[in-house]
Amino acid sequence: MAPTQLPAGRAASLWLHSGGLIYHVRALRYRQRLWRPFCTQAARWLDSWHPPAQKLLIVGPSAGYTLSGAWLARFQRIDVLEPDPLARWLLGRRFPRLQFHAGTLDCFAAPDGPAQLALAYPDHAILFANVIGQMLGDTHETEWLGALQIALRGRNWATYHDVISTDTPPACTRAVTHAAGAPLEEVLRDFWQVAALSVHDHGTFGVLPGDTGYAVWSITPHQHHLVAWNAYCMMDEWSSAPA
Ligand SMILES: C[S@@+](CC[C@H](N)C(=O)[O-])C[C@H]1O[C@@H](n2cnc3c(N)ncnc32)[C@H](O)[C@@H]1O
Repeated sequence: MAPTQLPAGRAASLWLHSGGLIYHVRALRYRQRLWRPFCTQAARWLDSWHPPAQKLLIVGPSAGYTLSGAWLARFQRIDVLEPDPLARWLLGRRFPRLQFHAGTLDCFAAPDGPAQLALAYPDHAILFANVIGQMLGDTHETEWLGALQIALRGRNWATYHDVISTDTPPACTRAVTHAAGAPLEEVLRDFWQVAALSVHDHGTFGVLPGDTGYAVWSITPHQHHLVAWNAYCMMDEWSSAPA
């Protein structure tokens, strides 16, 4: 089957449910203060990941609000898959010394998307930049995540992604690491000490192997996301390296 392309229509991409104009307005408003602790933690996670690759592919970078220029500069070539044209333009403006090559593959559109991705970018380290937790509808979630692990076996790849989101502010925001198999309740207790927590489940908890890092990203004063980090290097296939 021919690979699915990212939407080319300008209007459609600007209003994507994950990202788009609303996301850029929030970034403008909250990036300097409210987002700072999460961005600092994301930089720590990225710094701890040392893929032996000269090329990097970022899936869903938006304008790179959670990415650091110093880390990106480690790579000789950076490709991106980002359907939002404003995000791509802002990405170039935010990191003027770097060159980003935009591709068109939509790796979420079908269960064989991960296989198409692996084929199209055989030498790249691959970073899913807070996109998996928003893109997977419940229709092909399990199948897609299974296909991802098979397609990227033996590859250098990492992801930070939403696990749950809630309107209850966390009591604690310090990042933690849990071994595979830790129950969600235990992870949530590290951040929210409340008797009952109402959450939106992003369908990603516990699906990837290895130790997992967790941190909270308060996107707005009323919307808080538990974000997970998993990273894999070619030499230690299934061990993640949270910092
Ligand atoms: C929450 S934002 C990511 C945050 C971003 N990494 C940052 O540092 O600010 C999710 C991004 O995924 C992008 N996206 C949506 N559909 C996509 C797809 N099919 N492939 C790649 N990226 C996609 C959105 O346009 C949006 O920019």
